[in-house]
Amino acid sequence: MYTKSVKWLTLGDILAEDIIFNNEVIIKRDTPLKIMQILLIQNLGLQWVKVKTSPFLTTVNRATNISHIQQYFFDFIIHNNQNNRYYYLFENEEEILSVAKFFDELLKNETIVNLLSATNKWDFYSLRHSIDTFILGSLWMKRVNVDYRKEDCVGFLLHDIGKIKVPREILWKNGKLTDEELHIIMKHPEDGANILKNLGFSNVICEMANYHHVRLNNTGYPKPYPKNLHIMVCATMIVDVFSALTQERPYREAISFKDALDLLMKDRESYAQFLIESFYKFISRCLKKQK
Ligand SMILES: [Fe+2]
Ligand SMILES: [Fe+2]
Repeated sequence: MYTKSVKWLTLGDILAEDIIFNNEVIIKRDTPLKIMQILLIQNLGLQWVKVKTSPFLTTVNRATNISHIQQYFFDFIIHNNQNNRYYYLFENEEEILSVAKFFDELLKNETIVNLLSATNKWDFYSLRHSIDTFILGSLWMKRVNVDYRKEDCVGFLLHDIGKIKVPREILWKNGKLTDEELHIIMKHPEDGANILKNLGFSNVICEMANYHHVRLNNTGYPKPYPKNLHIMVCATMIVDVFSALTQERPYREAISFKDALDLLMKDRESYAQFLIESFYKFISRCLKKQK
């Protein structure tokens, strides 16, 4: 029997003791943990649990039938679950499994893997934000009644790829950016779109990179922007802001789902009306679970 930090639990870890909360057995001993159960344990605020597996064997995939990429995805969720975000976002085990399988399918494309590992090497915050934007975006699109092509969700994952061209001291700068630094950072959408275009990604995916900082009340960039923006571009604008606000960056703390949603709604003129309303409902449903 080993004591393991809840932060480092992994799929298939076997509980050596019952998980008890408010005198109630929540998960029985001998249970091989599923992803939603791990998120539940994190949400209960426990720090340590007793498991039958060695804490040093976290990389060994004890669960059956999942690929290394899915294992990476699950570990990503467990390790980056700030403020229990994924516990609130996902409704059940099946929903997490379906996003994990989708991520696995996408990462069969070597170009996507290379772009993500370049992002990881350059700036882990950008990688974390990219995967989070993908999770939020693909979950939201799946739940609402919007006509979209599933494969365009790659755009959520790669919308910030142009940041690999921005020097780290600018990306991580704590304090006001100079005009020159602002100019450099504001080029990342266009740089990203060019990278994606040269690699043969679809127009929609390139536009998700190019126009994710556009605001429909003309307060964003680049300017001018096309009159008719694709629905996936308008969706990226919203998920991008929500993800960025609710995760910490080297220069600021994360804010709560509720505060981020309030900020988005205050600025609703910036976004496509039916999408911002739909996103409001999507996140409000998660907030209900929080109470
Ligand atoms: Fe961006
Ligand atoms: Fe972004």
